[in-house]
Amino acid sequence: MRSVLVTGGSRGIGRAVALAFARSGDRVAVQYASDRAEAEETLRQLPGEGHAVLRADLGESGAAEQLVERAVAALGSVDVLVNNAGVAPTAANRHPVAGTPLADWQRVWRRMVDVNLLAPADLCWAVARHLIERGDGGAIVNVGSRGAFKGEPDFPAYGTTKAALHALGQSLAVALAPHGIAVTSVAPGFVATERQAARLAGPEGADLRAQSPFGRVGTAEEIAATVHFLASPAAMWASGTVVDLNGASHLRL
Ligand SMILES: NC(=O)c1ccc[n+]([C@@H]2O[C@H](COP(=O)([O-])OP(=O)(O)OC[C@H]3O[C@@H](n4cnc5c(N)ncnc54)[C@H](OP(=O)(O)O)[C@@H]3O)[C@@H](O)[C@H]2O)c1
Repeated sequence: MRSVLVTGGSRGIGRAVALAFARSGDRVAVQYASDRAEAEETLRQLPGEGHAVLRADLGESGAAEQLVERAVAALGSVDVLVNNAGVAPTAANRHPVAGTPLADWQRVWRRMVDVNLLAPADLCWAVARHLIERGDGGAIVNVGSRGAFKGEPDFPAYGTTKAALHALGQSLAVALAPHGIAVTSVAPGFVATERQAARLAGPEGADLRAQSPFGRVGTAEEIAATVHFLASPAAMWASGTVVDLNGASHLRL
């Protein structure tokens, strides 16, 4: 049985990831920022015992290190970190370079860099230190995005932070391999999470499904299955990889 810290576990991909680990017998700490009821609902769905729910706004200074301390206290240790929480693109944080006032541009950039990049970096630091002290190895999986490769013209800060997250994983994979710690990333394309339901049901739904030659978008369970595999000892040799999970909607050369 492993102890797993999943950030952003109150819904969507994070909830599916928490379920995937719990179903294989692991103990999970589910972090959320604001939606305690949905985080508790994730907890309720987890099979097994010893799971925990932890609140943290990862945009706040010091929150990441404290979250790891609290996860270790709740679970006894952390063997696996899944950096899934993020500020995702919404109508409210759309910031195309042409037409966005500087104050709005700076506000969105700073929030996305804080939550999507600096917090995962701090979480990696704290979990790596814990794992190195224990000496038993472990795994870190970062949830990046297809947008890192394809470009995000309306959300450049989002695409940039996800590209940086992939690069962070590659650097840490090299640095942490001598300690038996594997670091990987997944780069999902469009995924049918609760946040995306209205867009999929609306007029652009058909175009979103047509992005993939499979004629559909991905599911949170498909992302979770790969995250779960990448965190397993069998995937140690994949350390440093960025796995494209986009239904052949975007092929990297
Ligand atoms: N869905 C997609 O199409 C898609 C595609 C590519 C990549 N991704 C990436 O996959 C991850 C999960 O996506 P999703 O669609 O499942 O996400 P989501 O529905 O937007 O959920 C985001 C999660 O992150 C947490 N969160 C947000 N801001 C936070 C903060 N400041 N501090 C701590 N936690 C915070 C939220 O907690 P609360 O609920 O408590 O606020 C929630 O649990 C994200 O990193 C996203 O960028 C998603």
